[in-house]
This record gives sequence, structure tokens and C-alpha cells, in this order.
Amino acid sequence: MSTHDHDRLLIIDFGSQVTQLIARRLRELNVYCEIHPFQNVTDRFLEDFAPKAIIFSGGPDSVMRDGSPRPPAKVYELGVPILGICYGQQVMMQDLGGTVEAGEHATAEFGRAWVTPSDQRDDILHGWFMDGSGREQVWMSHGDHVSDLAPNFEVLGTSPGAPFAITADRSRHFYAVQFHPEVHHTPNGKTLYQNFVQLAGFTGDWTMDAYKDEAIRKIRDQVGDRKVICALSGGVDSSVAAALLHDAIGEQLTCVFVDHGLLRLNEAEEVVTMFRDHMNLQVIHAQEQELFLGELDGVSDPETKRKIIGRLFIDVFQKYANDIDGAEFLAQGTLYPDVIESVSSSGGPSVTIKSHHNVGGLPEKMGLKLVEPLRELFKDEVRDLGRELGLPDSFIGRHPFPGPGLAIRCPGEITRDKLDILRKADAVYIDQIRKHGLYDEIWQAFVAILPVRTVGVMGDGRTYDYACALRAVTSVDGMTADYYPFTHEFLGETATRIINEVKGINRVTYDITSKPPGTIEWE
Ligand code: XMP
Repeated sequence: MSTHDHDRLLIIDFGSQVTQLIARRLRELNVYCEIHPFQNVTDRFLEDFAPKAIIFSGGPDSVMRDGSPRPPAKVYELGVPILGICYGQQVMMQDLGGTVEAGEHATAEFGRAWVTPSDQRDDILHGWFMDGSGREQVWMSHGDHVSDLAPNFEVLGTSPGAPFAITADRSRHFYAVQFHPEVHHTPNGKTLYQNFVQLAGFTGDWTMDAYKDEAIRKIRDQVGDRKVICALSGGVDSSVAAALLHDAIGEQLTCVFVDHGLLRLNEAEEVVTMFRDHMNLQVIHAQEQELFLGELDGVSDPETKRKIIGRLFIDVFQKYANDIDGAEFLAQGTLYPDVIESVSSSGGPSVTIKSHHNVGGLPEKMGLKLVEPLRELFKDEVRDLGRELGLPDSFIGRHPFPGPGLAIRCPGEITRDKLDILRKADAVYIDQIRKHGLYDEIWQAFVAILPVRTVGVMGDGRTYDYACALRAVTSVDGMTADYYPFTHEFLGETATRIINEVKGINRVTYDITSKPPGTIEWE
């Protein structure tokens, strides 16, 4: 596939914490865009990329510092529209002959601010200032500010600390704003991006349907008639990657589903049945429960558990993969946020590639080439693609599940007995959440079985059984999280059901720790 088939927008990253949000807003508008650190944007790069428009991100530096980040001068000669944001505005002004001044207390602005219009023409600000208040809330985060506009620029909007909050050179379609239209706290920010891409002539051709066809074409080009193996976990990313590859190359794909005995109730059967029986994928169900649980026997240290599981996973995957004659590629569900190169605060490029992929390191070890058909997508785009490929919503909307599975929800020693109890309690809890229509409001929900037994009374008898903790959190990316505010009725009903339906648990607690300081999982 060539994303050159689409109109392409280039985001030049100067190191803002929220650059990814610019890409999110644009993708929501069906505009294909890529983020590249300023250091990589050379004249040659611009020629190859052929952007139809460019956005300069914000950044932590000051344009008054010698050696501060810049785009190449050529960007201004391409004849394409440019939008500068915050630091990006200041760069544009200084590059084109305006002046930027250091922040004084009077002009530095952090947080909410209100912009009022100085010009009412209906282009970049179409749909702004419409609610009768005559102003728009925006999110500011700047010390320095523009003090003299570059030639041909005019002011379209001002805020108390930024007399040049919105500026434009309309003849060249260069726009520059001091605030951040990409963040949630600029409620009408998306409209501004929409106006910009419309002025730039984007047609909104980045749709999942089109993407699917192109991705299939690209996989066929890359793989030819050779074979691909894929570690299928049943999670959203590997499921969508496998379904896409299957559409592209059919029988040349073999999936290995490693059953480590740490999965949830009926999970292995559900995953294997769906992919093998309903979608006709070749799936090897690696039943290695004995191996994993045997090696975990007597281990209670969380890091040791993780290491054992990680090592065995690789061994097992490799063992099954070696039996697949002539496999040359390994498919991975790597997503765009995993591969975006970020600009570090020191100005040097840094690469933020997550290391959590369960098969990380395997391609080199096994001499396999990688196929990563989701590399250009954000998580919610992966879900859209999954729907496009016919995966059921019950799979696409599933809460994340960690690679080490129930091992990290069973603090202390893992026994088969505890795992059985945990599976049943977890199934009741999730059933409760679904019945109350709360599943999609929650990022992740699960039960942890605690390494303590407590006394209870049931009927006329005394019990001495395990206590468990319910966990449910809201989150955007798993990096920070808050506990979900269930009602007392819900919690009471769920505790009663678990104690009545799950032999081995006689006490239920609810974990109300946020992250930080806690983590989502218990280990
Ligand atoms: P924590 O517990 O660190 O979890 O707040 C954040 C998110 O990551 C998942 N998680 C893991 N996923 N392997 C994985 O594949 C792991 O070792 C692992 N540990 C945590 C967790 O479920 C949550 O979504």
C-alpha cells in the first residue's frame, strides 16, 4: 500500500506533550497524517513526503535560544498551507520576519483562557464565536509570546495574554495560533482543524474501508507466496492483525495461540472457536498449561513470575513455529503510538517503542521478517478496522488483558485451586458488569484473589475461605487510572452473587486505589 494514494498532512514535532492529539483530531476528520520529529524533516524528506499541508506542533523550547528547533526554510516555499501551534506559531513568526518576546508574568498564560475575535471573516474561524458569548475557551501553555507579526500577517483573535492569539497570512494560507486547539480544553478546537484541512483541499479520503483494501494489497506485495506466523492472544490488536492477514493471504497464515493455563473462564475455547471455526483461520492451540503452571509452582515473587512466563512464552511459540515449514514472516499488532518517534526535552531524538510485545526479540532469534499491518493506526482505528473485517463487537470492545494473565491477579503463590476460584469469581463479576450495562464505560475490570483466608459464617457453618478484591478502572491509555464509582447496590449485589456462586470465597472487597499511586493490576 502506498499512503501516497491519500492526501497527506505532515505534523512536524517540536516536542510538545500533546502532539499525538493533533494526529488524533486529524484522523477523526478522515485526514491521513504522520508525525515526524523536526530533525528528520529535511528538504529531501519534504520532497518524498509531498505533504498537502503542514502543521507545526508546540514544544518546550524558546525560539530565542540559539539552536532551538526549526523546520527547514523550504517548508515556506512549498506553496502548501501551514498551521503553527504555540511554539509552532512563534517559529513561523520569527522565520518569516516577526518578533517573539520572552515571557513576563503579565503575558505568560497557562491553562484556560478566552479568545475574542478581531476579524469576523468566515474561513479558518468558521463555526467559532457562535454561542452568543462572543468568545471561545482555549487552552494556553506559553511563556514567550509573539510581539510583532511577520509581514502580511493579520490578527484574527486575541486573548488577555496573547494579543496575537490567532493570526493568518490568508494569501499563503499560513495560520498560527498561540493556544492548543488539539486538547479537550479547547472545546471548539476540532472545528479549527476542520477549517484548516478544508482550506487546504483535503477530501477526507482516509476511511477504514479504503485502508483495509490498501493494507491487503500491501501485505500481498510484501509477503508474496511465502508463509506468515502470528501469535494470537485474543486481544484486540492481535485479533485484528490476524483477521486482516487472513483476508490478504488466507492459508499462508498460521496463528499460534499459547494457552498458558492463566486465561479466563472459557477464554481459550472462545478464541480458538471464533478464529478456527467461524473465520477459518489455521490456529494451533498450544496447550501448555502443565509446562507453565509446573514452572510457576511455589513461585510468589511478581517479577520472577513475569520472567518465567515471558521466557516460556517465547520457547513455546518458537517450538510451534519451527514446525511450520518455511515460515518467513512474523506478524505483530504494533500500533502507531508504539512507533512514533518523539522529541525529547533535550532536543535530541528519542524513540519510544514499547517493549511489552510478548514476542519481542523473536524475529532476530528466528531469522524472521516482520509484518506489522497496524503500524499506521491508533487503537480506536484498529477497532474500526476490526469491525470492517467482520469481527464481532464482543471481541473488539474487550477490556485489555495482560500477557501474564491471571498470574498477576493471584498475588503470592499460584495454585490450580486458586486459579479455578479466581476464574469463576471473575466470570460472575464481568457478568454483573455486563448486565448493568457498564462494560463499555470501564477500561478494565477483573477480580484478584488475595493470599489470605478469612473466617465467615454460611448457613449454620463456619467457613475459612479466600478473600477477593474487585477492581474496575477508567482510563484512556492505562498510564493513569481512577477507580470506577459503582453504586453500593451494585457492589452489594455482586458480593452476594460471588459468595453464593463461587465456592472458596467468603469475603469480597472493592479496590478504590487510583493509578498513581497504585497500579491497575495487583502485581
Ligand atoms: P499496570 O498494572 O502497570 O497496568 O497499571 C497497566 C496496563 O498494562 C497491563 N499490563 C500488562 N500487559 N504484560 C502485558 O501484556 C504485562 O506484564 C502487563 N502488566 C500490566 C494491565 O493489564 C493494564 O492494562
